Amino acid sequence: MVTALKPPRVLVVANQKGGVGKTTTAINLGTALAAVGAPTLVVDIDPQGNASTGLGIPHNARKLTTYDVLMGGATIADAVTPTKIPGLSIVPSTVDLSGAELELIELPRRNYRLKDAFAEFTRNPSQPFSYVLIDCPPSLTLLTVNAMAAADAVVVPLQCEFFALEGLSQLLKTIERVRGNLNPQLEIQGIVLTMFDKRNKLSDQVAADVRETLGEKVYATVIPRNVRISEAPSHGVPALVYDLRCPGSQAYIKLAGELIQRESPPTAAIRPSSDVASLSVRKGRPRITRVKKPSLRRWHSSSRTPSVTSIPAARRILIPRPRTSGNGSRHPTTTRAMPAATSARAHGGVCPVCAHGSSET
Ligand SMILES: Nc1ncnc2c1ncn2[C@@H]1O[C@H](COP(=O)(O)OP(=O)(O)OP(=O)(O)O)[C@@H](O)[C@H]1O
Ligand SMILES: [Mg+2]
Repeated sequence: MVTALKPPRVLVVANQKGGVGKTTTAINLGTALAAVGAPTLVVDIDPQGNASTGLGIPHNARKLTTYDVLMGGATIADAVTPTKIPGLSIVPSTVDLSGAELELIELPRRNYRLKDAFAEFTRNPSQPFSYVLIDCPPSLTLLTVNAMAAADAVVVPLQCEFFALEGLSQLLKTIERVRGNLNPQLEIQGIVLTMFDKRNKLSDQVAADVRETLGEKVYATVIPRNVRISEAPSHGVPALVYDLRCPGSQAYIKLAGELIQRESPPTAAIRPSSDVASLSVRKGRPRITRVKKPSLRRWHSSSRTPSVTSIPAARRILIPRPRTSGNGSRHPTTTRAMPAATSARAHGGVCPVCAHGSSET
């Protein structure tokens, strides 16, 4: 296991538009980061619980959830649930979280509940995570604000479709407000174009527009539309485990490499302990070398220079190949979009972003 020497980098995966690939990005980026030796915690702060389902956490295993953390009923350490992926854990969520928006209004430091929970968690120098990825709901209400207040940076998935830029300006304004009022160090880590369809001219046009508008903030890696990505959640595994070689999985591996490069020097935080593993990034591709622990060998089949390309071996060992049921149907797929954003009225007349109308900041 790689030793995290610093508090983890907390990245929030946010876009108030529904169905743009937030959860898919959190799950697969998390898997790719874990696979290259950067232990990662996914925090599911969406009442839909799609990240929890997509990472194979059954409902009856979601004992302590993000709801409990926000309400002060559990610490993050208590709620961390391991997944089948070595190095990848999750704080799961359930539908209980949909009530949290209203309950939070009554609580002190309502915008900082998650931040405070992380502060307590990272006080422990032996916490194992190098990255935290928070999967947000499709809204800009208190849950997303809590996530942004707790985060170092935002990763924005942007679907290559006609209205992509329209929603983005609203998101950027929210980030700006959070930075101004709640979290001055919040940055944009990057914007990732998702569901790119090379046969569709519109995808090209949108990608060109976004790059022209946002320049270097847009990752060079583009996530293609790929049916294997959409099939994976119904089997409770990330696409990287379901089909490592599919173009979507390969793109998420590249994205992890790009993200790690953007994070350096902060990724110096991932200093491999000498007897375990060493992380390097060559030509944008993360690799692990010198793996000695058996647990990592299971994960990486080649003993000399194992890399994320050997994930299928781990899949064979750790995760039985998903089966369809007798009548050929698959497990139910994840649920879709949440109800629209709650208005400031629902927050007792207090703006959930800038806390206008309240004495608290
Ligand atoms: N690159 C892709 N290719 C094909 N399908 C994709 C891709 N990315 C995501 N999907 C599918 O699109 C749907 C929406 O993706 P996802 O759930 O990740 O979006 P989201 O932004 O988290 O949605 P929500 O706003 O509801 O939380 C899912 O069915 C997912 O499997
Ligand atoms: Mg989602």
